[in-house]
Amino acid sequence: MSEENLSEYSGDILKIANNLKHFGRMTDPTGSARIKGPCGDEIEFYLVINDGIIEDVKFYTDGCIATKVCGSMAARLATGKTIEDALSISPKQVMDSLQGLPKDHCHCSILAVSALYRAIADYLLKI
Ligand code: FES
Repeated sequence: MSEENLSEYSGDILKIANNLKHFGRMTDPTGSARIKGPCGDEIEFYLVINDGIIEDVKFYTDGCIATKVCGSMAARLATGKTIEDALSISPKQVMDSLQGLPKDHCHCSILAVSALYRAIADYLLKI
């Protein structure tokens, strides 16, 4: 991956990136997915779902700062939600929750939310 231009990010975004919540992998999730965006970045989502409630979420990516903060926000928004409510989380909601994210990184929020949806689908196809 090429060197990232940090000057395009606001201080708030860099603060979130330096203290990422939900970052990491899970060894025994009830649903998981890994997808690659057109930019080549990959993101993984891992879920623990119990009685229709998403109890725990982790994500992992080697992508850009925007992908990391979008993954973190999507994970935060999904934690504690029902499957139905989590499926109503939108890339716009992720963007709106991350004030200062450069608009040209909108696709990073789409990548994060798509991985979340796929991990939910993985769970639903197994039950
Ligand atoms: Fe690839 Fe962010 S630049 S998803």
